Amino acid sequence: MYNSRIIGLGKYLPDRIVTNADLSTMMDTNDAWIQERTGIQERRWVKEDSSDTTASMGVEAAKIAIERSGINKDDIDFIIFATLSPDMYFPGPGVQVQHALGIKTVGALDVRNQCSGFVYALSVADNFIKTGMYKNILVIGSELHSKGLDRTTRGRGVSVIFGDGAGAAVLTREENNSKGILSTHLHSEGEHAKELVLLAPGMGTRWVNDILKDNDPNDESYFPYMNGQFVFKNAVVRFSEVIMEGLVKNGLEVSDIDMLIPHQANLRIAQFIQKKFKLKDQQVFNNIQKYGNTTAASIPIALTEAWEEGKIKTGDLLVLAAFGSGFTWGSVVIRW
Ligand code: UT7
Repeated sequence: MYNSRIIGLGKYLPDRIVTNADLSTMMDTNDAWIQERTGIQERRWVKEDSSDTTASMGVEAAKIAIERSGINKDDIDFIIFATLSPDMYFPGPGVQVQHALGIKTVGALDVRNQCSGFVYALSVADNFIKTGMYKNILVIGSELHSKGLDRTTRGRGVSVIFGDGAGAAVLTREENNSKGILSTHLHSEGEHAKELVLLAPGMGTRWVNDILKDNDPNDESYFPYMNGQFVFKNAVVRFSEVIMEGLVKNGLEVSDIDMLIPHQANLRIAQFIQKKFKLKDQQVFNNIQKYGNTTAASIPIALTEAWEEGKIKTGDLLVLAAFGSGFTWGSVVIRW
C-alpha cells in the first residue's frame, strides 16, 4: 500500500469584491449583523457579465496547482471535481476540466457532497492512489453561488454567507507511509437533508414538462434553504467528533495538530472548535472573513492560502474537517 501526498495547490477567486455594505443596498441587512453572526467581512461574486463558471474557475485553480506540482498535465491519470453548483444538470464539470486542460482521456469523477465535497474527493483520490490504481490525481472544489442566491430580504439568512471561488490540489503516490494523507473519515446523516437544501424538483421526482408548465417566478424552491441554528448546533458536534476520530485513528492528540483547516462555514463555528480543543490562533486557519462560505471550494482555497503564506511546513500535522448539507461530514489527517 502507498500513501498519497499533495504536491501542488492552486486557487481562483473572482476579482469582484462584495462587501457587507454592498449587500445592505440589496436587502435589509447590515455589516454589524453579518460580522457578529458569521465573521464575514466580504466575499467574491462573479461580475454580472463575467464568463466565469464553476468549471472554468476550477480549471484556473487546477492550472496553478499543476504548475506548482512540477508534473506534466499528461501525467495526471484521474480527475475528481466536487461542487454543488455545476454548470449544467449533466454532464458534471469533471469532463469539462479534462477537455479544457487538454488532458488525455483519463477518468473524470464528479462528487456532490456540498460543503464536505472536497474532503470526500480527497478520500476517493487517496484510496485510488493507496491501492495503486492511479499515481497522479487532480482534485478540484469549485462553486459559483452568487447566481443562485435570493438577493432580497427574503433570502438574507442564506445569501450573505455564500461566495464564489475554486481551489485545486494535485496528489501523487508517496512510498513513505508516514508522509502524506494518513487517513480520511466520512459520514452522513440523511435524516437532516431538509435542513440545508435546495428543494427544486429534478427529473428524478417530476416530469420536466410539468416543471416547465408551473414555471412560477416566485418559486422559492430554486433558492437554497438553511435552518441556520439547527445546522450550527450539529456542525459543532460533528466537527469535534470527526477531528477526534482522525486523531485517535493515528494515535495522535489534539496537541499534535500544527494546523487545523476547517471548512469555512462560519467563523463562530471555527472559534467554538478552537476554544473546545484549546488550540492557539496559529493552529487554526480561517479566511472566511474575505471569501465567505464557498462550500466545496472552501478547504482547497484555505489550504492553498495557508501554504502560500508559508504557514504549512514539511513535517507538519494538518487536519482538514468539513460539515454541511446532507448532512455529510468528514476529516483528513495529513503529515505534510
Ligand atoms: O456550510 C454549511 C454549513 N453551514 C453552517 O454551518 C451554517 C450554520 N448556521 C449559521 O451560521 C447561523 O445560523 C446563521 C449565520 C446562518 C444565522 O445566524 P443565527 O444567529 O442563527 O440567526 P437566526 O437565523 O436565528 O436569525 C436571527 C435574527 C432573525 O430575526 P428575528 O426573528 O430574531 O427578528 C433573522 O430574521 O436575525 C435575522 N436575520 C438577519 N438580520 C440581518 C437573518 N439573516 C439576517 C441578515 N441580516 N442577513
